[in-house]
Amino acid sequence: MADAPSPRMRVASSWVGVSKAGFLLSLALCGLLLLLIPAFQPAARQVDPPQPRARVKSSASALRNRSGLPPALADAAGDTERKSGLDVSSEEMNGSTETELFGNDDYKEADSEEALSTPAGQGGILPGPGSRDLLELKDIFIAVKTTRKYHKSRLELLIQTWISQAKEQTYLFSDGEDKELQMRTGANIINTNCSAAHTRQALCCKMSVEYDKFIESQKKWFCHMDDDNYVILPSLLQLLSSYHHSQDVYLGRPSLDHPIEAAERVKSDGLASAKFWFATGGAGFCVSRGLALKMSPWASLGNFISTAEKIRLPDDCTIGYIIEALLEVALIHTHLFHSHLENLQKLPTDSVLEQVTLSYGGYENRRNVVSIVGGFSLVEDPTRFKTVHCRLYPDTDWCPKPKSPNGK
Ligand SMILES: *[C@@H]1O[C@H](CO)[C@@H](O)[C@H](O)[C@H]1NC(C)=O
Ligand SMILES: *[C@@H]1O[C@H](CO)[C@@H](O)[C@H](O)[C@H]1NC(C)=O
Repeated sequence: MADAPSPRMRVASSWVGVSKAGFLLSLALCGLLLLLIPAFQPAARQVDPPQPRARVKSSASALRNRSGLPPALADAAGDTERKSGLDVSSEEMNGSTETELFGNDDYKEADSEEALSTPAGQGGILPGPGSRDLLELKDIFIAVKTTRKYHKSRLELLIQTWISQAKEQTYLFSDGEDKELQMRTGANIINTNCSAAHTRQALCCKMSVEYDKFIESQKKWFCHMDDDNYVILPSLLQLLSSYHHSQDVYLGRPSLDHPIEAAERVKSDGLASAKFWFATGGAGFCVSRGLALKMSPWASLGNFISTAEKIRLPDDCTIGYIIEALLEVALIHTHLFHSHLENLQKLPTDSVLEQVTLSYGGYENRRNVVSIVGGFSLVEDPTRFKTVHCRLYPDTDWCPKPKSPNGK
């Protein structure tokens, strides 16, 4: 904008020609000049003031946003065009075998992941980056689903690492008492009294208790995690801050590359079928309070269990069913959430700390962990969660202190 003075001159001349239209035009030009002033400060790089984004685009940017930038920043940093005709991700299917997941191809899905977008026509209900929520960690209710037999092997690691940074708002939903763990760590352990079996009924029973506790908590966001997830709290906060909790937001990672189809027994006695996306529970997902309240007829006070029974699908699918099929709110697909069903080694090392959730293992493959260096060796830290934690919070007392050049 080397010719910045010229509009100002035109402004002046329009004062001479006293026509009303000229006056209005000059006002508009003044306004434009005012808007341009901040743009001159950072190296005169941008000419136009930031434009409000179309709502659909902002949701698309959330999908594209593997970088960990909030949608607004990702949009500002890159183009905002949606590539059409690529609504489906090429990510691994839920049902893939572990060997398929561990192919030695590199991170080649990147392009199609970036093009991944939500189905058209759902964007109107999504907030744009303008509707920023001044969100704090204490506004997020984090539910971790676990079971008695994993208190020692899985929960202790989480309590020692990320949960220590979000103790007040993290609730562990289990199926047995553990006063000792609760006393020793101060963690909120809730005995759901649900069965410890890994059946649909038991899982849905826990989800039902999680839902009711969230509603009771008055918090702004509900995030469900599994007991093999590391939650990168700064990334979670940044991601949710791009949306508003009063709007309909359902964020997560689909584990299939197509919507699931279920015989619909709620609306139509099983005569029709419903197609919907769902966020895989193993990677964690989040629901805004506004949307969670709308789920109440099918989710609160035990209704979740009867809804799940009607479609005969697991807990995470039932959430998707209620939100996508019954409430007609689309899942916002994000690749910042990760489950043990993915090949976690494929995550680029420099992007690991920008993800929202991580996981490890897999039923057979114990070497399915994120690649990150520093802190601990693979033997000392087989899940890599301690290493991730020490990279995020280096001041933690049990983290190895970096050797200083003074030999301190
Ligand atoms: C589980 O049962 C105990 C004992 O009856 C009760 O105190 C507790 O509130 C129950 N938990 C839930 C989540 O209902
Ligand atoms: C996909 O995997 C999750 C575990 O992360 C499981 O709960 C769910 O039932 C699976 N869905 C299908 C359709 O296989």
